[in-house]
Amino acid sequence: MNASILITGGAGYIGSHMVLAAASAGFTPVILDDFSTGHMDAITQGVAVSGNIADRALLRSILAEHSPACIMHFAAKSLVAESVEKPELYWKNNVEDAAILMEAAAEAKIPFIFSSTAAVYGMPEYTPMDEAHPTAPINPYGETKLAAERKLEEYRLSHGLNYGILRYFNAAGAAPGGVIGERHEPETHLIPLAIRAAMHGTEMKIFGDDYDTQDGTCLRDYIHVLDLCDAHLRLYNYIQTLRPSQPASERIFNLGTGTGFSVREVIETTAKITGKTIHAITHPRRAGDPPALVANGSRAKNILGWKPKHSDLATIIEDAFRFHQNERIS
Ligand code: UFG
Repeated sequence: MNASILITGGAGYIGSHMVLAAASAGFTPVILDDFSTGHMDAITQGVAVSGNIADRALLRSILAEHSPACIMHFAAKSLVAESVEKPELYWKNNVEDAAILMEAAAEAKIPFIFSSTAAVYGMPEYTPMDEAHPTAPINPYGETKLAAERKLEEYRLSHGLNYGILRYFNAAGAAPGGVIGERHEPETHLIPLAIRAAMHGTEMKIFGDDYDTQDGTCLRDYIHVLDLCDAHLRLYNYIQTLRPSQPASERIFNLGTGTGFSVREVIETTAKITGKTIHAITHPRRAGDPPALVANGSRAKNILGWKPKHSDLATIIEDAFRFHQNERIS
């Protein structure tokens, strides 16, 4: 029988891609999702359980039935602006509920892989940013992800929990089949909004063109969701080699390409790929946007042997566009 991986948030954007990647790597994906933001039709493989990560009895029964070889935790609230409006929701979901899942993993001695974010760093003090960059989040989303990272370290110290952390820069793209992709509601991310603007001929906003960058708009490090999933499988193998005494600093990896693209470059590339004109109007800066967020991903490359294969901007946008075209038809 195949080993299973428990994928929380497996009905969400990155989680649903992880389900595919885990199945392709020979694991049985077991998905735990409360469907608050996920979509049932995004689950294409494995066993789906509807429920919450904070339901101890449910967790016990899933762990007893499936004995997963690992827990990959994607179920989280992830919108920066929403986190500013509803910090308590973010603390409850991303920290308190996540801690219940971590506790279950620690007690059952199951390795844990955590989806974290570049938002833990806050304003860049230098760029590209490595894992040693100071962590000083500037919004509740980043605060809660950092607090959850610290909880993992507490469970390592108290229970010997074996864990790894991946700090994603700007996740984007979709599996090339066009069946699953990014479907946030409301959508706030640049690439899906640029594709929508192209497809529907609607106006979009550029938040600030007076930054100290080549064209005045913000730079981001876009990383294809398939490359993120590949890093999870590599981290799964790597953490088997770690001793419980190895601290957080040896368990954290940035995931990015090391190249930043400006908002204008993203919009121009989207216009080229979709063959449409995009009407982009400059608006004031969006609160909390750092001018440039670019990863130094050397640790993941050197230690995990990870190399982004799908993360050139054109491939990311082509794959995302294919998904949005199918979404329109279905
Ligand atoms: N942008 C626009 N117009 C839009 C939407 C976005 O100009 O309609 C700009 C933003 O101002 C920003 C860039 O495009 O400069 C990228 O914005 P996104 O919302 O796509 O992504 P963020 O960089 O804000 O957020 C990402 C992740 C978060 C994570 C954050 C780290 O999605 O989860 O990086 O700071 F917290």
